[in-house]
Amino acid sequence: MTTATKDAPPYTGPSAAEVLKEREKHCFPLMTYFNEPILISHGKLQYIWDDKGNKYLDAFAGVVTVSVGHCHPVVVERAQKQMEKLWHSTTLFLYPELPRYAEKMLKKAKTVNPDFDAVFFTNSGTEATELMTTLAKLYTGCSDFIGLQHSFHGRTLMSMSLTGQGPWRHSTPYAPGVYHAPANYSYRRPEGISTEQWADICADQLQGVIDHSTAGKLAAFVGEPVSGNGGVITPELNYWPKVYEMVKAAGGLFVSDEVQCGMGRFGPDAFYGIAKYGVKPDIVDMAKGIGNGYPLGAVVTTREIADALKGRLHFNTYGNNPIACTVGEAVLDVIEDEKLDVNAEKIGGILRDKLKKLEAKYEQIGDVRGYGLMIGVELVKDKKSKEYNPELASAIMEGCKKRGVIIGKGGQRGNTLRIKPPLCITEADADTIAGAIEESIKEAV
Ligand SMILES: Cc1ncc(COP(=O)(O)O)c(C=O)c1O
Repeated sequence: MTTATKDAPPYTGPSAAEVLKEREKHCFPLMTYFNEPILISHGKLQYIWDDKGNKYLDAFAGVVTVSVGHCHPVVVERAQKQMEKLWHSTTLFLYPELPRYAEKMLKKAKTVNPDFDAVFFTNSGTEATELMTTLAKLYTGCSDFIGLQHSFHGRTLMSMSLTGQGPWRHSTPYAPGVYHAPANYSYRRPEGISTEQWADICADQLQGVIDHSTAGKLAAFVGEPVSGNGGVITPELNYWPKVYEMVKAAGGLFVSDEVQCGMGRFGPDAFYGIAKYGVKPDIVDMAKGIGNGYPLGAVVTTREIADALKGRLHFNTYGNNPIACTVGEAVLDVIEDEKLDVNAEKIGGILRDKLKKLEAKYEQIGDVRGYGLMIGVELVKDKKSKEYNPELASAIMEGCKKRGVIIGKGGQRGNTLRIKPPLCITEADADTIAGAIEESIKEAV
C-alpha cells in the first residue's frame, strides 16, 4: 500500500478535489487516470509524490516522456543555467546551443541511417508529424499517405488523419489522401497461421491499400516501429523490411515515428526502435523522451529531403529555442553517461521475463510483448476466447496505484497495460512492478 514518506517536501496547495473542480470549470474537457485522480506534487527520477506525501514508482513516465528520470539533476542544472543566460531566440539569430545539439542528435540518428544530416526541432510530436507530411509532399510531388490501424501520430489535421484509432477520431472530415493498412498484430492472427506468415499477410494487405486506394504512388508511409498508444503491438521481424520494400517501390518515403520507441528505450542496439528491424528510414520523427518532459520534438532526415523546404519561408517561433536545445543535449548526455539504454535492455528483459511467468500462470493475461522498457500486457477474459478485458485493465491500474505503482493502459479497446517507465529503473523496481501487477490481478479476479 502507498505510504506517506518524509522525502517529499510538504504540499500546501489546494486539495485534489478543488483542483479538479476548478480545472473542469475553466479548461476544455480533459481526461484523468484513476477513480480518484492523483494530484502530483513533485517528481524525482523514477518516483512521483502526491499531495499527501504518498510515493509512487512511475512506471508510465508521464506517458512515455520522462526518459532519464523526473527532474534529473544534470538536466535541471543545465536548463537553469541556460534560463539565467538566454530564454528565447528564434533562428533569425545565431546561438551555439542549436548546432551543438543538432550535431549530437544527428550522430545518434546516423546509427539508423548514415545519410541523416539535417534536423529541425519542433515543440511536440504532433508538430514533427505535421512538418514531416509537408516535407514528404514537397519532396515526392505526391500527396498520398499510408498509416497503420492502431497507430497514434498527434492532434493536428494531418497527424489525426494518420492516426488509426477510432476512439481518437471525431466524426469530422479528415485530410484527403490518407489511408490505413492493418497492423501486424500477431496475438490476434487467425488460428493455424505462424507469426511469420501473418507478418507476410499483413504486409501484403498494405500492398493492397497501395494498389486499391492510391494511383500506385506514395508521398510517405508512416509507422511506429512498435505501437505506443495502440497497445504495444509489436510487429514480427520480417514485417517492416517487407513494408519498406513496398513503400520504396511506390516511390514513397519510409517514416519511422519514434516518439515513443526512440531514445534508447529498446536498448543500445536500437537507440531508435526501427533499428530492431534493420530498416533504414528516410525520416524519423521524435518527441517525448528527447526532452524528458520539456516540450521538444524533432524531424530528422537527409539534406536532400530537407532541402525540399528551400525557396519558401519556413519558420517556427519556439522550435529550436536555446532552452529546448540545452535540455535535449543534456538528455542525450545523461543517457550516454549513465548507460541508460543498456539499463533499459537489461531491466526490460528482467521485467518481461517476470511478466511472461505471470502470463503462464493467469488465464486473463493473453500476451506480454514489447522490447526493452516498452512492455504491453494484453488482458483477456480467457486465453481461448481472447475476449477483450478492459475492465480488468482498469482494475489492475487501480490496484497498482494502491500499491504505489503507476502503470498506463492503451489499445483500441483499452485492454492492454502499458509499462514504460523512465530508463533509470532498477531490478528492485522491476520486482515491485511485477509484484504489484500480480497482487492486483489476484485481487480483481
Ligand atoms: C507515436 C506518437 N506520435 C506522435 C505523438 C504526438 O506527440 P505530442 O503529444 O507531443 O504532440 C504521440 C503522442 O502520444 C505519439 O505517441
